[in-house]
Amino acid sequence: SVYGGYTKNRVGSLAQLKKEGELDFSYPDGNALCKAVYVNNEVKAYSIICTHKGCPTVYNQEKAMFECPCHFTKYDAKKDGQMVIGHATGGLPRVLLEINGDDIFAIGVDGLIFGRINNNV
Ligand code: FES
Repeated sequence: SVYGGYTKNRVGSLAQLKKEGELDFSYPDGNALCKAVYVNNEVKAYSIICTHKGCPTVYNQEKAMFECPCHFTKYDAKKDGQMVIGHATGGLPRVLLEINGDDIFAIGVDGLIFGRINNNV
């Protein structure tokens, strides 16, 4: 479910994301690290904070996997951040996007960011 109320923030350029394959941003606030990825001709975005114990995951672009260095949980960027192996009990929260021309906007988060009561706290 989508928690809390959200602002619409521009997070970057679609052309740049297509070129680089990934794009870092923060949402819904400066402490919430996220990444947009371009995979299978689609743009997807996630909170990169592992849902196990809160370590920042590292994106493996070749495998399209978010990999946690702490206890090796892996999340599939192609499958809505679903956990494929590891200790977490759920997938990575998905950042909801709106694309308008070359502009990518974050408009919400589906799933609870690790360590939060709701995503805006
Ligand atoms: Fe990521 Fe434990 S904190 S696997």
